[in-house]
Amino acid sequence: MAAIEKLMDKLVSLCKRRGFIFPSSEIYGGLNSCYDYGPLGVELKRNIKDYWWKAMVQTRDDIEGLDASILMHPRVWEASGHVANFTDPMVDCKECKARFRADQIEGAMCGSPGYKGRKASKCGDEGKFTEARLFNLMFKTHMGPVEEAANAVYMRPETAQGIYVNVYNVMQASRQRIPFGIAQIGKAFRNEITPGNFTFRTREFEQMEMQFFVKPGSDMEWFEYWKAQRIAWYDGLGVRKNKLQFHQHGPTELAHYAAAAFDIEYEFPFGWKELEGIHNRTDFDLKRHAEYSGKDLSYFDDATREKYVPYIVETSAGCDRTVLTTLIDAYDEDVIEGEARTVLHLAPVIAPIKAGVFPLVKKEGMPEVAKKIYQDLKKHFPVFYDDGGAIGRRYRRMDEAGTPYGITVDGQTLQDQTVTVRERDSLVQTRVASDKLLPFIQEKMAAYKRME
Ligand code: GAP
Repeated sequence: MAAIEKLMDKLVSLCKRRGFIFPSSEIYGGLNSCYDYGPLGVELKRNIKDYWWKAMVQTRDDIEGLDASILMHPRVWEASGHVANFTDPMVDCKECKARFRADQIEGAMCGSPGYKGRKASKCGDEGKFTEARLFNLMFKTHMGPVEEAANAVYMRPETAQGIYVNVYNVMQASRQRIPFGIAQIGKAFRNEITPGNFTFRTREFEQMEMQFFVKPGSDMEWFEYWKAQRIAWYDGLGVRKNKLQFHQHGPTELAHYAAAAFDIEYEFPFGWKELEGIHNRTDFDLKRHAEYSGKDLSYFDDATREKYVPYIVETSAGCDRTVLTTLIDAYDEDVIEGEARTVLHLAPVIAPIKAGVFPLVKKEGMPEVAKKIYQDLKKHFPVFYDDGGAIGRRYRRMDEAGTPYGITVDGQTLQDQTVTVRERDSLVQTRVASDKLLPFIQEKMAAYKRME
């Protein structure tokens, strides 16, 4: 247990030190569960989103992209069921004043002064909890200068609804026919009672959601198809297969809209937890929006002359959770030539920096040659130039940032125009002609497989 807690502590500290993730508004003491992505974090997150977009939109003919607004007509959330059902049961400890989700007492710790470190279940056993009451997780705000009920709007708690209300706009504009999907990446907000575990559960987060519209009767076939596609996607991200599993929702877990649901779970240091949900939402969403908007949202199939309300198979991934997963999965410590190193085994496709470029020493023309290599490679992918300190320390700094390749210009470079390329994971060093460096690294990146 101590080792596991230590891993999270070490990761949080590395994220801060190396500029992956900072606490939000830190100079004011931070804001609970809000985080900012620093220079390396923003690249990592962007790479993950690009990788998802490429897999879900750009390489497919049957999925279109969308970027809907965060604020939507309030009736959307009545139709979706969020106003009535998007609630969690909440209890307060009358003595220590800590607040918990009633269904997550097991394993929760009390963080209040005086009770810090004590199990929350103890407060329950001692009868100190209030009765559970339902708490709606949607953030409410107001449109315009006057704060009154008539102009209340919600910050969207999921991106999915922006897709449903646009389904026929997108279908007509892109001349798609069912089966087809709409994909979207964007912020969502949930006033979680107990956020925590770093960026795992926060109140503001990004989702990568895809809604696939199908003919009723073909929904379970598509559901199985998307399950297989989505778990394979994490393999491409470099996440270890043995750390991923499916979890099927039983009848008591199923959301109000779902006929079938599987989570893709990752084995986090704090247990197996959901990374992505794959849901068969039936025709619930479009029927409800038809009812609340008064618009006919059925689809007419010209070929078969059939009219029906499409079923929806949804794949809903958390972007911040995926970033956290890739960092945890990549984190490692080893000893190289008697010296401890911290390394992130990030797959090159998501690594913030693809290569470090180093002159062995700051003289004899090596910095000039290294700078030229750096400038040339920078046109193709992010690279980092470093001439400060011993070469071993420069390698370590790049290892810790997850940079897969290190390029060193040395005395031999000046003789024969070759450089050494050091691989972060295997530590293999290869001499490569400078003018072949770009294809060499590109091929290495394309062929990358995580070492067991
Ligand atoms: N449209 C369906 C939907 O939103 P969900 O299971 O509630 O389904 C999907 O959320 C994904 O969004 C989750 O698997 C998770 O990765 C991410 N997510 C949900 N709540 C989150 C939170 N409070 N913090 C970070 N990520 C969250």
